[in-house]
Amino acid sequence: MLDQKRIDSWIQETEFEGSRSNYPKNFPDLPDLPSKRYSDPLFFDAEVEGLWKKNWLYAGHLDQLPEQGSFFIWDKTGSEIIILRNDSGNIVAFYNTCRHRGSAIVRKKSGTLGKTFACGYHGWTYDRDGKLKAFPDVRDFSNFDRSCRNLVQVRCEIYGNWIFVNENNNAEPLADFLNPISRFFDHLPLKSLRLIHQHTQSVPCNYKVLIENFLEVYHFRLLHPSTTDRIFSQKKTAVHLWERGHSMMLSPHRRKGWVDPGTIGLPEMSTTTRIEREFLPSYTVFPNFVLPIQATGVGAVLVWPVDIANSLMDVVWFAPSWGDGPRPKIWSERINNFDKILEEDTSFAMPMQKSISTPGFKGVALNYQERRIYHWHEELDRSIGKSNVPEGMSVEPLMSQFIER
Ligand code: FES
Ligand SMILES: [Fe+2]
Repeated sequence: MLDQKRIDSWIQETEFEGSRSNYPKNFPDLPDLPSKRYSDPLFFDAEVEGLWKKNWLYAGHLDQLPEQGSFFIWDKTGSEIIILRNDSGNIVAFYNTCRHRGSAIVRKKSGTLGKTFACGYHGWTYDRDGKLKAFPDVRDFSNFDRSCRNLVQVRCEIYGNWIFVNENNNAEPLADFLNPISRFFDHLPLKSLRLIHQHTQSVPCNYKVLIENFLEVYHFRLLHPSTTDRIFSQKKTAVHLWERGHSMMLSPHRRKGWVDPGTIGLPEMSTTTRIEREFLPSYTVFPNFVLPIQATGVGAVLVWPVDIANSLMDVVWFAPSWGDGPRPKIWSERINNFDKILEEDTSFAMPMQKSISTPGFKGVALNYQERRIYHWHEELDRSIGKSNVPEGMSVEPLMSQFIER
């Protein structure tokens, strides 16, 4: 947990990073990541099965499901999934696939489902727990056990008020998966954070190009000279690696006592520490949930693959409640400012994607301050399974002694 001892040692490490002049003696040279991890369709297929269909993934916020019957369709990993608040108020998830002949049942993207809802093709009707309740022409089915024809459930669990989904029935509980990282932010009143904004944009690059961008601050000087580089110290940024591929980097403000002008007057979370007030702790929940936590709110980023050369980026803002009434005006400005920084990040993505598809791209060279990327790739291989990583495309596991347990 983030107790005083931990806070002090994290802060000390940022000072140490600022003063360090050599490559740390005990840290291995990092081998290049094979270029084919970004461009070979075999590797992409291995990721679809071994990463996206096997891990807990952020799918939404409870504010999106205010009442019984509220639903949205989640379609980020190639399967349409209905995420729904059932009659007892719990969140449940099902494949949007009719048990008759496989039609998509729900055709709207979000809204409210009745106590029962019918597939539009032949009228098979289900309740909010996915149970098959009725179907026309019963006389025409012989030997039919309707209890085997309920909608196929998908694992769905809640942390704070974030909804996570996992297509792997054998996955460990969400809380166990998150614990190595959530222990450092579960002192915050995450349950009271509202979903205040979200939008999605297409980015024409392999999804890892974008994810890696959010795992390092090495690019601050050139990509963000008048935004984040002016505010945060890249040199003093300290890195923490945790189990399950989770990690974070802690960047101190350049100026002591600096307060983001875009946050002045906004309510703060009640239990913040120096870490959220005087630093930018940017967590990445493996594989794709980027959480830069500030006392006044979190501008989270999620990256999803569309195909090998195209991604989607979600920008999702969570913030403490300001009470009744419309969102304070200052929020629009803050959201726009963050979008400008993200534009700086995505501006390089298209030319980079083209470039990494040529024979000129031999692999990814990583330095010490980019080691979160190496750690992330090690976990990717673990998730895919050693024997399923296409030949010549794996990374050598080297980080285990640097993982803080
Ligand atoms: S496919 Fe749904 S009722 Fe026939
Ligand atoms: Fe950036």
